[in-house]
Amino acid sequence: MKKGLLITLEGPDGSGKTTQIQLLEEYLKQKGFEIIKTREPGGTPISEKIRNIILDNRNTEMSDMCEALLYAASRAQLVNEIIKPSIEEGKIVICDRFVLSSIVYQGIGRELGIEKIKYINQAALEGLEPDLTIMLTIPYEEGLKRKYKQKTLDRLENSGNKFHEKVFNGYLDISKNYDKIKLVNANKNVKEVHNQIVEIVDSLIKNK
Ligand code: TYD
Repeated sequence: MKKGLLITLEGPDGSGKTTQIQLLEEYLKQKGFEIIKTREPGGTPISEKIRNIILDNRNTEMSDMCEALLYAASRAQLVNEIIKPSIEEGKIVICDRFVLSSIVYQGIGRELGIEKIKYINQAALEGLEPDLTIMLTIPYEEGLKRKYKQKTLDRLENSGNKFHEKVFNGYLDISKNYDKIKLVNANKNVKEVHNQIVEIVDSLIKNK
């Protein structure tokens, strides 16, 4: 494999992405691949600062457009500083959320519109597209319940059930139209979910 790969994980809050990314990283490292694991919003010192602004519950007056632009700004830094160079060096980048999150959370959830979100993000992406997106599906109520048990909810998680329902349905609708988005049922035990992910990732690597 000369050039690397970008694999992104998506799903509602509490779908178990973090655990599954950890397991996928270990699996691919054992196979001898160089892995860069990162997350959005965040993943670089600048992007993590932007993350703190976005998720801060005190920022009640943040406009939806400001939120969308901050996600794109955080992404621009991550793409430029980490993702693009790593792929050039032949590494596999695994990213916890990417532009699809902006499309569904800001485009559909906040109702800014998908086209506007794509437009905002075009400059941030520098032409980069994920090679594979794994979407963990879990009813949004179940996901939020899991989150609530783990920690205090952040500003996005606190956006109400209606918002999360729109986000979840948005994910499902968009996934239908893209071959590169693979759905994985996350309402199963950790090992079963991991096995489904490994099967999809192995087939991507084999066909590369
Ligand atoms: P995440 O890091 O997955 O949350 P946590 O670590 O608490 O599980 O994402 C933070 C929140 O940001 C999450 O509610 C989804 C939201 N988000 C967007 O609304 N748009 C985006 O573009 C991204 C990347 C995340």
